[in-house]
Amino acid sequence: MPLPKAELHLHIEGTLEPELAFELAARNGVTLPYADTGALREAYAFDDLQSFLDLYYALMAVLRTEQDFEDLADAYLARAAAQGVRHAEIFFDPQAHLARGVPMDTVVEGLWRALGRSERSHRVSTRLILCFLRDESAESAMETLTAARPHLDRITGVGLDSAEVGHPPAKFRAVYEAAAALGLRRVAHAGEEGPPAYVTEALDVLGVERVDHGLRSMEDPALVARLVRERVPLTLCPLSNVRLRTVDTLADHPLPAMLEAGLMCTLNSDDPAYFGGYAGDTFDAVRAVLGLTDDRLRELARNSFLAAFLDDDEERRAR
Ligand code: HPA
Ligand code: ZN
Repeated sequence: MPLPKAELHLHIEGTLEPELAFELAARNGVTLPYADTGALREAYAFDDLQSFLDLYYALMAVLRTEQDFEDLADAYLARAAAQGVRHAEIFFDPQAHLARGVPMDTVVEGLWRALGRSERSHRVSTRLILCFLRDESAESAMETLTAARPHLDRITGVGLDSAEVGHPPAKFRAVYEAAAALGLRRVAHAGEEGPPAYVTEALDVLGVERVDHGLRSMEDPALVARLVRERVPLTLCPLSNVRLRTVDTLADHPLPAMLEAGLMCTLNSDDPAYFGGYAGDTFDAVRAVLGLTDDRLRELARNSFLAAFLDDDEERRAR
């Protein structure tokens, strides 16, 4: 039995496996610039975050209808359930779809068709988190939040993703204030490729409750002390860090040092179709390569439920 866990850092568009990409391409009459799934997989050799994002956005061309988004989410939930995920807080990137002429309605309702029945169909509870693309303008983020207003019964929170360097959190102060006023929970990617100062800014300016990645916090001892003191959860994604070359190899990952420092770490898969593993695979890899004890792995799983946007009853049931 895999360890029960919550997944808190998962981009649904990053769960698009090559097989499903080709199936959806055929269904929608989209031509992919790859001969087959093998050729597509060969393109998964990334130098950095941007080289991944280029392919990640390009492949979204196959996602067009509610059915596509439902199939994508359902496939993810089935895989996650098989790897011990009992609760999943799922990011989606509406601006990337709106820009292609796919309306907010199609995206949210399609995802919800799978998420809304997931407790019954997969025994996985879910939350949906709308992410703003930080390399788009603050005005575009605000328009996106406005477009999401009719769907707020389906959306638990907002996040911030895409190319980090040069797009500091403070650029999105106004939209995060508006999101907070609507009762939405707040998270943001920070300290993946960007500096520790972006982590501080996400906390102080955006009021985030969790930091997605937060890896580079380790460069600033005062920030580490604060994150420990305030028990700020970090949603770490070690397989992603290796594939995007934020760390050289998994053996070099600072996870053990972060746990030793007392940081509230969680383990997540980010974009599992691209980075070589889902949540259970990630636990297996850090156990094998970083030699974490069973106690440490249980601590990581426990943290994932504590850091989730669940109330106490839901948390008990999910565990
Ligand atoms: N980082 C930033 N943006 C993203 C990622 C990531 O790992 N995956 C999808 N969007
Ligand atoms: Zn991410």
